[in-house]
Amino acid sequence: MKPSRIAIVGLGLIGGSLARALKDACSGVHIGAADHNEIALRLALRQKVIDRAGNVAEICLDADLVIIAAPPLAAPALLRELESCLAPGAVVTDVASAKEHLLGTLAALPCGFRARVVPGHPLAGSESSGYEASKADLFRDRNVVLTPLNDTDPAAIAMVHNLWRMLGANVLAMSAARHDRILALTSHLPHLLAFAVADLLARREPAPDANHYAASGFADFTRLAASDPKLWSEIFRANAPAAVAALDAFVEDLTQIRNEISQNDFPALGERLVRSRMAREDFELARGGAARSHSAREQCFTVRPGGTISGRIRVPGDKSISHRAVILGSIAKGVTRVGGFLEGEDALNTLAAFRELGVTIAGPENGDLKIYGAGASGLQAPRRPLYMGNSGTAMRLLAGVLAGQDFAGELVGDDSLSGRPMKRIVEPLSAMGAHIHAGPDGCPPVRIDRGRLRGIDYVMPVASAQVKSCLLLAGLHADGVTTIREPAPCRDHTERMLRGFGVVLESSAEHGTVSIRGGQELRANAIEVPGDISSAAFFMVAAAITPGAELTLEQVGVNPTRTGVINILRQMGADIRRSNERESGGEPVADLHLRYRPLHGVDIDRDQVALAIDEFPALLIAAACAEGETRVRGAEELRVKESDRIDAMAQGLSVLGIENETWSDGIRVCGGELGGGVIDSRGDHRIAMAFAVAALRCRDALTIRDCANVATSFPGFAALARQSGLDITEVNANP
Ligand code: S3P
Repeated sequence: MKPSRIAIVGLGLIGGSLARALKDACSGVHIGAADHNEIALRLALRQKVIDRAGNVAEICLDADLVIIAAPPLAAPALLRELESCLAPGAVVTDVASAKEHLLGTLAALPCGFRARVVPGHPLAGSESSGYEASKADLFRDRNVVLTPLNDTDPAAIAMVHNLWRMLGANVLAMSAARHDRILALTSHLPHLLAFAVADLLARREPAPDANHYAASGFADFTRLAASDPKLWSEIFRANAPAAVAALDAFVEDLTQIRNEISQNDFPALGERLVRSRMAREDFELARGGAARSHSAREQCFTVRPGGTISGRIRVPGDKSISHRAVILGSIAKGVTRVGGFLEGEDALNTLAAFRELGVTIAGPENGDLKIYGAGASGLQAPRRPLYMGNSGTAMRLLAGVLAGQDFAGELVGDDSLSGRPMKRIVEPLSAMGAHIHAGPDGCPPVRIDRGRLRGIDYVMPVASAQVKSCLLLAGLHADGVTTIREPAPCRDHTERMLRGFGVVLESSAEHGTVSIRGGQELRANAIEVPGDISSAAFFMVAAAITPGAELTLEQVGVNPTRTGVINILRQMGADIRRSNERESGGEPVADLHLRYRPLHGVDIDRDQVALAIDEFPALLIAAACAEGETRVRGAEELRVKESDRIDAMAQGLSVLGIENETWSDGIRVCGGELGGGVIDSRGDHRIAMAFAVAALRCRDALTIRDCANVATSFPGFAALARQSGLDITEVNANP
C-alpha cells in the first residue's frame, strides 16, 4: 500500500529532505511535521514542503505512515508515545544511525504495534544539519538499511521499502546488531577520529599559524568534524557498545603501527600501507559499481610445489542452488529463509538484482537470508540495467523471470559474460511471445520488453540446465503449459526447488521432459543450501592426486545430476566413499571421504559430460596426474563457459609439459610429470583453482594469473586450500 498521509517527527536535514523528496515523488501526498524548531516548521509550511505543523499526537492521529526523523535518543520515547495515538494499521519507521538501542523499547511494546514498526537508516547524512540544509535529492542512489525484527509485518516492510525506492534509494536489510557493528566502523569511527584529530591539532599546536601548515590532507581528514556535535554525541551514546568495540580494534592497530615505527619495522609498516591502499581501491571500485575486470591490479596465486592433503573441511554453499533460492524466494508469496547461502560475487549480484526489482532481502549474515517474497506479480521495474557480473546462470534465469513481467529490463555482465551466447534463451523465449533481444552477435546485453507469454513445447538443442530453468521460470507466467525436452539429463535444482515452493510439475526421467502450467503461485519455503560439489571437486582432485592424502568433505550436495565428477574419478581409480547421506531441502547431501590411490586414464562416457560439466578443469588435472591417456568428447559446451575451457586447459597443461590434443568437442590428456611456470587462468575461476591444485604434483612453483574471479564462486578458496595442505599465496600485482 502507498501511504497518502505521512507524518514526519523531526524536521532537520533528514526529515526536511524526506518531506521535499516526498512532495516531488508522490503527487497528492499530505505531509504533517512536528519539531521543536518553530522557525523550521514555519519555513517548511511557507515553502509548501509540508501541509501541516503540529505536535506529535496531532500530526500522527490520521497518518498512515509515521517517520521518526528525530535524533536517535529521542526515538524510544517517541515510539512509546505513538503507541497510544497511532491510527489502526498505520506503519512507523525511523532513520536513526543506531538500531540495537531501540530493541529494548520495541520488545516492551504490544506485539500488534511492534509488528508495524520498521526500523530503518538512510546512509545519507552530511556534515550540514538542520532543515535549511535539506534537499529533495538527498536519498537518490543512496543506500537505506532496514532492520526488521522477526515479527515485523511484511506488508509494513513493503510499504517502507517502496517509499525509499520511490525516493531513488536502494534498500538493503540486515539485523540491528550487524547494522550497528558495520556502521560503527564505516561511519561512527571515522567521525570520532575526525573530531579527535581536529581537537588534537588545536590543543597540541595552539599557535594560530599551525593551521597554515595543515593543508588539504588535514581538511579532507577532518571534514566530518564539521558535523553537529550534539547529534554525534547522541549517536555515540546510542551505539556505545559497537563504537567501543570498533575503537578497541582501532587502538590495537594504532599500537601496532606505533611499534612498527618506533622499532624501525618499516617493512611491516610498508606492507600494512600497501594493504590499506588496496582496501581503499576496492572500496572505491565497489562504490563506483565498476566491474572488477577494470581493476587497476591483478590477483595471482603463487603455489609452491608439493604439500599434503588432509583434514575435514566444508566448502561454501552451492552456487546454482543459491541463485535459485534468491530467485524463487523473491517471486514467492511469504517469507523464505535460506541457510548456507553462497556469499560469492555471482550469487550476491543475483541478490542485488532482486533488491533492485523491489524485493526486501535481509542478509546475508553467516549464510542466512530472509527474503520477503514479492509474490507472482509483485516485482517492480528496475531503474537501471541489472548487473549479472560473471554469471551465465544469473543472466539466463533472470531473462526467464523478466520475460513474463509487465515492465522492461536489461541484463548486463562483465567482459566474460558479455561474450557468452544468449541465442539459446532468446530463441525459445521469443517463441513463447517474449520481446527479447541480445546484441547483434547474440551476446549480452539482453533487453526484455513487456510481453505476454504462451506455453511452448521445446526441444533443447543442448543439455543446458540454464536454458531449462529459464523456460520453466518463464512458463510460470505463460498461458497454458510449457514443456521442455532435454537431450541428456542436466541439473534439476530448479525442478526440485519449484516443487518445494508448492509448484506442480510433470516430469518424465525416461523421456527427459518436464512441463509446467502457467499461473501457479509459489509459497515461501525454507532452504538449506548444501556445499557446492563443483567447489568440492578441486579438493576431491587434490586428494585423488596426492600420495598419502586423506580428506573428508562435509555436507556436499550429491544430487545425481551433479555427481559426474565422483563417477569419473572413481572410474579413474579414485577412492571416494560417502557417509551421512541424507536429504536437505529436497537435495541429497553426504559427507565425502577421499583417500589417495593411483589414478589411470579413461575414456569419459558421453553421458557423464553434462553431469560433470563444471568439473572438467579439475578432472583434466586428475588426468594429467594419471597413468595413461584420458579422453573426453561431446563436451563442446566447455568452449562457451566463463572461458573456452578446452583451450585454456590445453594451454595451461602444455605450460606444465603435459601432452594434450584438442578437438572442437573435447580434449585428450596424457598423464605425465608436471613441471611448473606461469599459467593464464583467463579470468576463469575454475581454471585458476584447477591449476592451483595441480601444484601438489608439480616439480616447480606455479604462478596462476588473473585469479580475482575465484571470488565469484569460492570466496576463501586460498585459505581453505592452505588449511588442507596447499602452499598457496594470493598476490596482488600491478600489471
Ligand atoms: C548451471 C548450469 C550449467 C553450469 C553452470 C551452472 C546452472 O550451465 O555449467 O555453471 O546453475 O543451471 P549450462 O546450463 O549452460 O550447462
